[in-house]
Amino acid sequence: MKFPYTRMRRLRKNSKIRSLVKETTLSKDDLIYPVFVKEGIKTKEKIPKMPGQYRYSVDELIDEAKKLEEKGLKAILVFGIPKKKDKYGSSAYDPNGIVQKSVKLLKEETDLVVITDVCLCQYTEHGHCGIVKNKKIVNDETLKYLSKVALSHAEAGADVVAPSDMMDGRVKAIREELEKNGFDDVIIMSYSAKYASSFYEPFRSAVYSSPAFGDRSTYQMDPPNSLEALREVKLDIDEGADIVMVKPALPYLDIIRLVKDTFGVPTAAYNVSGEYSMIKAAIDANYLSNKVIIETLLSIKRAGADLIITHFAPEIVEEI
Ligand code: PBG
Ligand code: ZN
Repeated sequence: MKFPYTRMRRLRKNSKIRSLVKETTLSKDDLIYPVFVKEGIKTKEKIPKMPGQYRYSVDELIDEAKKLEEKGLKAILVFGIPKKKDKYGSSAYDPNGIVQKSVKLLKEETDLVVITDVCLCQYTEHGHCGIVKNKKIVNDETLKYLSKVALSHAEAGADVVAPSDMMDGRVKAIREELEKNGFDDVIIMSYSAKYASSFYEPFRSAVYSSPAFGDRSTYQMDPPNSLEALREVKLDIDEGADIVMVKPALPYLDIIRLVKDTFGVPTAAYNVSGEYSMIKAAIDANYLSNKVIIETLLSIKRAGADLIITHFAPEIVEEI
């Protein structure tokens, strides 16, 4: 139908009408807040490359989590910063490690869905996500350690474990370890299509996990590839992942759409540290208003994400 039968502006007349025909909504139900908890500190530390974000002590993490829960937050993703690093990342699977302690308390003190990052990079001296032999990141031996980490998180009470290492076969290894030990209802949210991105820089400086040599491009995905993302996601689903993830989010919105349309499984997107910091810096400099936050997160939803992991969660949870 042509003008004047069709006037697109009719449905934009006022905010109530616009909301009736709105195609995408952003809701508290979709948000996961990633937090950093540091062993051996008493008060929270500012993170210079991530204005507004902190490295929390365990106690302060619990206080913050309670406050956010009151505001309607439903889920939290815990990253640990250990006191001690070694060759095998042994603090990562210590039953009294920083993540394990935090998870226990979060489960006792809140009703949040507790998700843990399963990886070795904050815990190894060399800062790689796997075991290193002769300057190579070895795949199969790493799987044993990742399984130990995931099991220790499940034993602490984690609802969801989220492997972020990008080794081959890790979802299967973790799923089998969980099943063998009676944790058949622990959810695996796999970082399935995780790209070797420069947008992780603020995160690495926050948790001291930059690789001491080389980079992560022998295990994380190459940015030009999209069909490869489908193969990665398919493998993870077949190996027992419940939720798949695309990471980063904004430079990879096309991948989110492709994954969602191809598999139709719960799909998470990680709005990573660099995406947070660049927007935050622009707002702090008054180049942009904070309205860009909602617009940005909506774009991730519109691309097909069911869940969004974002450092903006505390700032917007009451607004949506
Ligand atoms: C490491 C890990 C990274 C992030 C989460 N887990 C970065 C990396 O691969 O070095 C990135 C998170 C962010 O930038 O917000 N396993
Ligand atoms: Zn890692």
